Amino acid sequence: MDKIIIEGGKTRLSGTVTIEGAKNAVLPLLAATILPTEGTTTLTNVPILSDVFTMNNVVRGLDVAVDFQESTNTIVVDAQGEILDEAPYEYVSQMRASIVVLGPILARNGHAKVSMPGGCTIGSRPIDLHLKGLEAMGAKITQLGGDITASGQLHGARIYMDFPSVGATQNLMMAATLADGVTVLENAAREPEIVDLAILLTKMGAKIKGAGTEVLTITGVDKLHGAEHQVVQDRIEAGTFMVAAAMTSGDVLIKDAIWEHNRPLLAKLIEMGVEAREEAEGIRIKSDLSTLKPVTVKTLPHPGFPTDMQAQFTALMAAVNGESTMIETVFENRFQHLEEMRRMGLHSEILRDTALIHGGNPLQGAPVMSTDLRASAALILTGLISEGKTVVGKLTHLDRGYYRFHEKLAQLGANIQRISED
Ligand code: EPZ
Repeated sequence: MDKIIIEGGKTRLSGTVTIEGAKNAVLPLLAATILPTEGTTTLTNVPILSDVFTMNNVVRGLDVAVDFQESTNTIVVDAQGEILDEAPYEYVSQMRASIVVLGPILARNGHAKVSMPGGCTIGSRPIDLHLKGLEAMGAKITQLGGDITASGQLHGARIYMDFPSVGATQNLMMAATLADGVTVLENAAREPEIVDLAILLTKMGAKIKGAGTEVLTITGVDKLHGAEHQVVQDRIEAGTFMVAAAMTSGDVLIKDAIWEHNRPLLAKLIEMGVEAREEAEGIRIKSDLSTLKPVTVKTLPHPGFPTDMQAQFTALMAAVNGESTMIETVFENRFQHLEEMRRMGLHSEILRDTALIHGGNPLQGAPVMSTDLRASAALILTGLISEGKTVVGKLTHLDRGYYRFHEKLAQLGANIQRISED
């Protein structure tokens, strides 16, 4: 098992950091590559993450050819010919995001079988909105023995989503591309990763309007063809480095970061007193920690403050003198990193969806355990500002969403290393 060891306390990050293609974009994009019956699909700027290998295996399990050329961050998918109806349990059970292959397989074959994704540590992660939407489009859904079976020829429908679920929006948008007639998704998710998926689907010949707004209109077509697409930059990786720079009185250029994808985070950083500037090459973050002010943040679906930045931002709140408040409205159990930070000396109270963080007290390094992907990043960032040695274990979570995270921090000046201890 690998561990990350940080000697923290006096870290001041400076320099330029590059970011990868977005994990939360490439996973649905890979699901979309199942749809074309003519030609092949090439994805570039693909991040090298464990979740990508898992999704590649899910798609390969449908008898689809997937070639991942890691040296060029490129995946070529050939879904021509017959594809299977059933996504392989062994891979789907590894990653709940696999559920977004349900819509494409059903749209393509008229029948699909995918194992029910489990919950995870941050929440129960239901998929009722995915299934309700597919039923509205004519699918017959049964759940038996942990599997979801869906069948039927899909037709257009007007669907109001109780919650702007990212995954449900992706599943339903992909299913609607081959349905008979027009589908309108209301209260749809608006994340940049939804827009990226709509761009690829449109390149494949789909007819989609309103991507990035709360109303998506998809007019079904008979078939789709292969396309080439560059995966959008990872706004959460970019945001993680912005927070790292802010909490270490750093001066960091996050190369190719996209300002409009990070507006809510940037607004909060600026409100605290962080200097954020859009430059030709990306976003530059400069700060003097001693001048930063505490803030209140509430996570919301895009364009609100992203829940995927919540844990990292609480690490910044822990560094800033004064009482900050974090309200997590999207997931029901996403404060576990605060329990671990308590071992490092953080004073905080959690009252249901609200965490009060008494920032600015000196923190001490400690061995800590990561419980989920973003918690891992948050604990590493906290180690940067904690006196002494911090050891972060269970890095399988981190490797799902960050590529060479410790190397990038080391290049910016952090005293950090990754060791393997079998
Ligand atoms: C995506 O998950 C992301 N994952 C998550 O990122 C991200 O936190 C989340 O969107 C919100 O932005 C990927 O893109 C692979 P949701 P998803 O459906 O699609 C409720 C990370 O750290 N809900 O928008 O599963 C659900 O309970 C990960 O990179 C229903 O009630 O998120 C939750 O409270 C973590 N019924 C809320 O919606 C449903 O049918 C958000 O879920 C679906 C969701």
